[in-house]
Amino acid sequence: MSLHDAGLLLAIETSCDETAAAVIEEGHRIRSNVVASQIELHRPYGGVFPEIASRQHVLDILPVIERALADADMGWHDLTGMAVTRGPGLAGSLLVGVNAAKAAAWARGLPLVAVNHLEGHLYSNWLDSGVGIDPASITQPSLPALDAAGRAFPLLVLIVSGGHSELILMGGHGIYRRLGATLDDAAGEAFDKVARLLGLSYPGGPAIQRAAQDGDPRAFDFPRALTNHSEHRFDFSFSGLKTAVLRQVRELDPEHLPVADLAASFQAAVVDVLLSKTADAAREFRVGRVCICGGVAANRNLRTAAAERLPVPVSVPPFFLCTDNGAMIGAAAHYRLLKDGPTALNFDVEPNLPLQMAASPRQ
Ligand code: KG4
Ligand code: ZN
Repeated sequence: MSLHDAGLLLAIETSCDETAAAVIEEGHRIRSNVVASQIELHRPYGGVFPEIASRQHVLDILPVIERALADADMGWHDLTGMAVTRGPGLAGSLLVGVNAAKAAAWARGLPLVAVNHLEGHLYSNWLDSGVGIDPASITQPSLPALDAAGRAFPLLVLIVSGGHSELILMGGHGIYRRLGATLDDAAGEAFDKVARLLGLSYPGGPAIQRAAQDGDPRAFDFPRALTNHSEHRFDFSFSGLKTAVLRQVRELDPEHLPVADLAASFQAAVVDVLLSKTADAAREFRVGRVCICGGVAANRNLRTAAAERLPVPVSVPPFFLCTDNGAMIGAAAHYRLLKDGPTALNFDVEPNLPLQMAASPRQ
């Protein structure tokens, strides 16, 4: 497979509550990126309602794909391939994207790459953000430029989303070693659950960030579960923190809940734990750079603190590439296609698909 064959990919993402499609050139140039969010539909339930999610994907998938092609000013004949998220995620949601992608790839005779959603988040750091979009979050030089110069790896990646918190050592494209993961709740899940406790709306991350703006992060001394036992020193645990917030809330007067202080103190504890483990791993594995990705990477406090506290340069995608999108799937697919070639069309969705690890003593 030559670089040219992986040139222009239409990528589809429907793993959770975003129907998304994008056209990505050479794995890093965003020609279009369309996201139909279902947040408003799920808000009354305080979380994603799986059946509503899959049925909305059915309604949105074709218009979103057509929009992605139109925004890129392209037709099907311009594409060199397609990509779609195969897992992890909600089975009914994944099926909509996978079936649409298979049908189009088969009808148009295009190679299709099945992509791991976590690998997608990871490759969100490889995308050019576009001039004028949130320049403060763009760390120069870009990863593709570093890669071309042979200076991108080893990289440490912190993936923090609604479903995952993982520290991954990346030795090269598609070569991963998991250093740590969450032992219970994912970071985003903790934000969502604590937001509900505080009476804030879904999704919890942005709501807590907003509430925390007026709060004192030192008002409550919530526990930092550093799980320092050597076997778990790079693992995360957030359920104790969530319980501590719950206990604190129960002790306070519900009529006068200091929501801003509680939100700020909770957020500070999460950021502290995430960054202290990431900093330790960056030192121990002597990486030249840390990449942070996933929905929680949109958190302003985490972004600012990461730049200040981590011992090496940090890459964080602009806000619109942190939460689920098609562009990141197209970026990951580009490198998968070069490495493994297209996926045979008889693949199934995999709701619990893990990131494929390189052989290592810890696996
Ligand atoms: O990556 P993502 O869109 O979906 C998954 O793959 O899970 O992440 C969604 C998660 C939610 O838990 C949401 O609360 C969290 O990302 N999130 C944030 C922020 N924006 C989104 N968490 C903290 N601060 C934010 N600004
Ligand atoms: Zn995600």
